[in-house]
Amino acid sequence: MTNPTVVGFDFDEAPLRAALAPAGSGTYEPTPLGIAGARAAAAATFPAPGVTAERVVLSASTSEAYSWLLHLLCDAGDEVLVPSPSYPLLEELARLAGVELTPYRLAYDGAWHVDLPSLEAAVTPRSRAVVVVSPNHPTGSCLRREELRRVAALGLPIVADEVFAAYAYADDPTRAATALEAEGALVFALGGLSKFALLPQLKLAWMGVGGPDALAREALHRLELVADTFLSVATPVQLALPRLLELAGPRRAAARARCVGGRRALAQALAGTPATLLHAEGGWAAIVRLPATRPDTEWAALLLRDHGVLVHPGRLYDLPTAAPTVVVSLIVHPGDLAVGARAIGLASSA
Ligand SMILES: Cc1ncc(COP(=O)(O)O)c(C=O)c1O
Repeated sequence: MTNPTVVGFDFDEAPLRAALAPAGSGTYEPTPLGIAGARAAAAATFPAPGVTAERVVLSASTSEAYSWLLHLLCDAGDEVLVPSPSYPLLEELARLAGVELTPYRLAYDGAWHVDLPSLEAAVTPRSRAVVVVSPNHPTGSCLRREELRRVAALGLPIVADEVFAAYAYADDPTRAATALEAEGALVFALGGLSKFALLPQLKLAWMGVGGPDALAREALHRLELVADTFLSVATPVQLALPRLLELAGPRRAAARARCVGGRRALAQALAGTPATLLHAEGGWAAIVRLPATRPDTEWAALLLRDHGVLVHPGRLYDLPTAAPTVVVSLIVHPGDLAVGARAIGLASSA
């Protein structure tokens, strides 16, 4: 995914530097689940009532949180259900943990949705968890309340990657604001500074643990042991978190404006060409479907070689190769996005 710190956002660095020198930084506080004030600040990021600091675990990144959860929920050889297409992050993490990933399909019929028969068919006696990503990267699809209900009905713990939750393009009451809304299921909802504040360099993420009290309490107790093994989150960034979250609003607004503007620019540039912009509800990426005259990898190579435009071939995310697609980052500078969008339109028409 595009690095948000090098795409020409002109955020003032002074308040960030001031926030990163909080009082107390000279003292090491080895609290495995995180410092209380930081956990409370992270709890307030969830769009659900009743997420308390005690139900929040801090980690250095959501990638690390995923890894801890694989160790918490699985033994070697166990399986985790994952959406396809999606971001390929989990493959390596699962390999490291000796866990198998079982894909379930997201289907596109003018909008993306969970293919529920495919989800239900993916469950085996070795399934230990189901991952949902909302908004999903790169499809930009958001989980509906009804889909969440069906996911919860599988009876498996839910790992909900909500790193892009603040980047839905419009409100929609049929959408689950967070998987922590699920009734009866053990839920781990992941977020972090990387996307929420465009600060991946600070290495701080959080998970909210939801579900029946006894289950959640036991999960938190076990996660404390896992986290204690690493103690990976630095003290200063935890102390800085409340202030960093105050600074995050305008940063998110700027990124959201780029995504919305970028989609508009892409739609305009592709109108009347054989390229199609797929529908999305949120996130930092857009999928463009191109003519089936060459594979997605060749489309990506052609765009780079002939136009200097960098896109990802859709297969990197398990998008179907029969209808070739490329994935475009929307948070690049609007000038670069406009040049890239024109090039894609031109290339598709040649
Ligand atoms: C859907 C999704 N989840 C998680 C991550 C990883 O985020 P982090 O920087 O917190 O590890 C990414 C990175 O791009 C992502 O796209």
